[in-house]
Amino acid sequence: MVGERVDPAAGGEVCVCDIQDVRVPQPTGGHQEPREAGLLTPGTLRMRGMDGTTLPHGELTSMTTRRTRWQEAGQSGNFGRRFAELIASGEDVDGEARLADTLLPRGARVLDAGAGMGRVAAALLRRGHDVVAIEPDEALVRQARETYPGLPIEERDLLDLGPQDGPFDLVVCVGNVIVYLAEGTERRALGAMRDVLGESGRILVGFHLQDPPAHARTYPVEEFEADLAAVGLRVDLRAGTYQLHPANDAYGVWILSRAQA
Ligand SMILES: C[S@@+](CC[C@H](N)C(=O)[O-])C[C@H]1O[C@@H](n2cnc3c(N)ncnc32)[C@H](O)[C@@H]1O
Repeated sequence: MVGERVDPAAGGEVCVCDIQDVRVPQPTGGHQEPREAGLLTPGTLRMRGMDGTTLPHGELTSMTTRRTRWQEAGQSGNFGRRFAELIASGEDVDGEARLADTLLPRGARVLDAGAGMGRVAAALLRRGHDVVAIEPDEALVRQARETYPGLPIEERDLLDLGPQDGPFDLVVCVGNVIVYLAEGTERRALGAMRDVLGESGRILVGFHLQDPPAHARTYPVEEFEADLAAVGLRVDLRAGTYQLHPANDAYGVWILSRAQA
């Protein structure tokens, strides 16, 4: 059974304001991707240093990359079904999008990085923004296209973003995406999001600080904020929910911008 949890970060609503709410058990049967422990899978990525800096222009390098924690978790099917059920039953799944919308001028350009089945991107599209969603999980991309026909969503890893993909007024990276990245790629991911920001662009990030879902990492605030500083991102605001309750130990919501003026 999927565990149902009222999301404290959403202010007590069942607003699945985050995948924090959707805890799914590990599959006990069915298809398992062939892999070995700690296995690497091939991919073509723009090389980024561990400090998030992009290597010289045009340098595209074929490399192997670790599986994401999301892939390791194997939660895609349960996650997608759970959201389909919530939406069908009329639950509020727009909490993060409402906060994102308040950060934006009308008709802004928004990237949803790790969009899942597209709920946040779709809510921002409905609010009149120019939205691009990227999501590397093929099944979730398919679900997003079926659920929200016309939603611009690409099957793509956020580590593959480059400055040419921007500029965006806002990058949304919510619902525990950050704690489901492949091990050791956090700074590269943060650097990739920084690189697509426009002049006064911002990033909205949110993830569980305690009791992360299975296979997600624990990312202490001190370590996260050190990684932000290392890649040239500044904390404009830290809150505990998408309704901007005070910062707490359970969940973190950050609004970030480029560190330099
Ligand atoms: C719990 S889901 C959240 C989905 C969506 N943001 C939401 O809130 O509904 C976590 C997502 O992180 C995505 N993810 C993990 N590593 C990623 C990466 N390197 N690039 C893009 N997305 C990634 C997974 O594919 C998965 O869709």
